[in-house]
Amino acid sequence: MDALAALPAEVTLAHAGKQVRLAPASVLAPMAGITDTVFRRFIRDLGGCGLIMTEFTSGDGIVRSAKVARRYLSFEPEERPIAAQLFGSDPAVMAEAAVIVEQMGFDSIDLNLGCPAKKVVKCNGGSGLLRDLPLLRRLFEAIRGAVSLPFTVKFRAGWDEAQLVHVELARLAESCGVNGLALHARTREQGYSGNARWEWIADVKQAVSIPVFGNGDIRSPEDAAAMVAQTGCDGVMIGRTAAANPWIFRQMEAYRTTGAYPLPSERDREQLMTDYFRRLIRQGNPGAVGKMKQFAAWFTHGVEDGGQLRKAIYQAGTERQILEQVEAFFAKVYSTTCREV
Ligand SMILES: Cc1cc2nc3c(=O)[nH]c(=O)nc-3n(C[C@H](O)[C@H](O)[C@H](O)COP(=O)(O)O)c2cc1C
Repeated sequence: MDALAALPAEVTLAHAGKQVRLAPASVLAPMAGITDTVFRRFIRDLGGCGLIMTEFTSGDGIVRSAKVARRYLSFEPEERPIAAQLFGSDPAVMAEAAVIVEQMGFDSIDLNLGCPAKKVVKCNGGSGLLRDLPLLRRLFEAIRGAVSLPFTVKFRAGWDEAQLVHVELARLAESCGVNGLALHARTREQGYSGNARWEWIADVKQAVSIPVFGNGDIRSPEDAAAMVAQTGCDGVMIGRTAAANPWIFRQMEAYRTTGAYPLPSERDREQLMTDYFRRLIRQGNPGAVGKMKQFAAWFTHGVEDGGQLRKAIYQAGTERQILEQVEAFFAKVYSTTCREV
């Protein structure tokens, strides 16, 4: 695989004279409960990510309450370029919500058509909309007409394999003035099971001329290069791997420019964990302990005997105790490593 040829150095989302340049052409996928402002700044500081996205946010919620908008959509200037992701199904409400997003200073706006969660689908949001293309047209037109920001859509390929709509939806979106598409190459029915079907990304890329981002199952820079080579997509979007390995964007950038990338040492992992946990504490969020426990599960992927550390963190009651557990775990790792050397 020719890494240098495969990963695009940049891609631009453009509408009515407004341009968002993603360099490199990589996107942090929106992840509810994960991609809050602390995590987004963490990813930015590690480097290599072209565009950051918020967690999905209810259009209805932000229209009804400024508190909801502040809670889910506050961001810091260093997060730019940043897109706000909304979900919802009422065109008039979503148009109003889009205006709020524009006024908050986001660089672009994204509509979620992929969420499989029952409570979102029940209100016809997320992947529920994949079964109603006429309503989708009205939604696209309403949002497009309300704002001058670049507007993107993130979607799954269809409700199930018998009802694939990815090509039709992509063409519809482009005809309504949508400026970019990200396909999570699974159906709603699949949830997260099975493999992402990258050939569906290739179908979409062939059907439209706006930028197409491929999403699903990228676990390494090699995977990202393979997806681009196999589908011709203009950029890649990465979700779960970014939570388990926040260095992935930096690694992809190194791979793109040099054909190789460094793997984190145990010391890097300890630093990553404590740095992130300290950021959570500094944020002064009363839920910091819960978040630290949640992230312990992600960050210990790939750590030898990581299960022990997870257990110790789950049992800890305070922020300080969690940091002590991390320190004690890695001190043991280093002393064992030194003895072996
Ligand atoms: C914990 C979690 C939360 C997610 N939340 C969102 C969300 O808010 N909006 C969205 O469009 N997709 C959401 N997704 C889906 C991801 O953005 C992405 O499409 C999916 O994980 C596939 O990409 P990956 O294989 O790189 O993880 C979420 C996924 C996970 C695991």
